[in-house]
Amino acid sequence: MRIAVTGATGVLGQEAVEALVAAGHEVTGVTRRDRGVPVIEGRGGTAVIADVFDSNDLARTFRGHDVVINTLAKVPVGMAAMRPLAWREDDRLHAEASVAIAQAAATAGVRRLIQESSAYLYPDNGSDWIGEDLALAVRNQAFRPRVREMRAAVDFATSGRSAVILRLAQLFGRDPHTTHALKATREGDPILLGRPDGYITLLHHTDAGRAFVAALRAGSGFYNVGGEPITRARWAKDLGIEAKAKGPAKFYPEITQALVGTRLDVQRRSQRISSVRFMSETGWWPTIGPSTPGWSRR
Ligand SMILES: NC(=O)c1ccc[n+]([C@@H]2O[C@H](COP(=O)([O-])OP(=O)(O)OC[C@H]3O[C@@H](n4cnc5c(N)ncnc54)[C@H](OP(=O)(O)O)[C@@H]3O)[C@@H](O)[C@H]2O)c1
Repeated sequence: MRIAVTGATGVLGQEAVEALVAAGHEVTGVTRRDRGVPVIEGRGGTAVIADVFDSNDLARTFRGHDVVINTLAKVPVGMAAMRPLAWREDDRLHAEASVAIAQAAATAGVRRLIQESSAYLYPDNGSDWIGEDLALAVRNQAFRPRVREMRAAVDFATSGRSAVILRLAQLFGRDPHTTHALKATREGDPILLGRPDGYITLLHHTDAGRAFVAALRAGSGFYNVGGEPITRARWAKDLGIEAKAKGPAKFYPEITQALVGTRLDVQRRSQRISSVRFMSETGWWPTIGPSTPGWSRR
């Protein structure tokens, strides 16, 4: 198939391009700048420079493709996420670029859209499992960009077109967020939010890349994508082992956690996410877990 990937130079996008090329697809990676070109070519894709906020530019880029995969995001790393303007770029990408991408894909005659979304949008569900039918906790206006993005993908899925929305669990691997967490763990600084007995569901980047390939086989709809959920205490231990630290990763004190604000508060939610729907529909399964030795170097 001919597949266009937006966000192709990002953490998720690079994995998607590589996995799609390995599966035999012809992949066009979209970037806004010259220095993105060798990154995409290095993963086996063909690079195109385009403006992801301009639906005319995008429609020209998407013409002749069967599928568009949107992986755009700009998530601030660490406690920088508490700064007032830290999420402005990420918000614009979801509220504006994702909408332009869905519209341009329809204009260009693309038949399928695969849209990255986040499992963080579910509420805290204690130790109960979270399936796709659980209502999202998105009332706060901070989540509006993500809701607009989902609506745009749902709107795309008319007139015989299909849209697959992947609610990805918390990514881990060789990325800025995890690298920051490993460094803090090594230095004995607190890094984790939530409670040790709460659940976390993780997704290694390599498995996220494979999920975009698997999503080509899924019917229209929402799918959770993550590994086997574990307690945060277990994750603290796994971070400590991977960081070769003296002990497990530390939790922020309750008083600090109470002040983190809406955006980071999602990371305090206990989320035991089931990916059974995605696994049974596509045959995808997670291959790297937080207790797989060397996961931060893969
Ligand atoms: N579910 C999750 O847990 C989750 C989800 C997403 C990200 N993250 C984490 O967040 C961290 C950062 O990843 P990220 O995906 O947010 O960022 P990233 O890896 O830096 O990728 C951003 C991508 O979006 C494009 N982009 C960024 N800002 C743009 C803008 N203003 N206009 C147009 N294009 C723009 C970039 O393309 P250009 O080539 O044009 O620069 C790049 O391809 C990583 O550690 C990742 O693991 C986690």
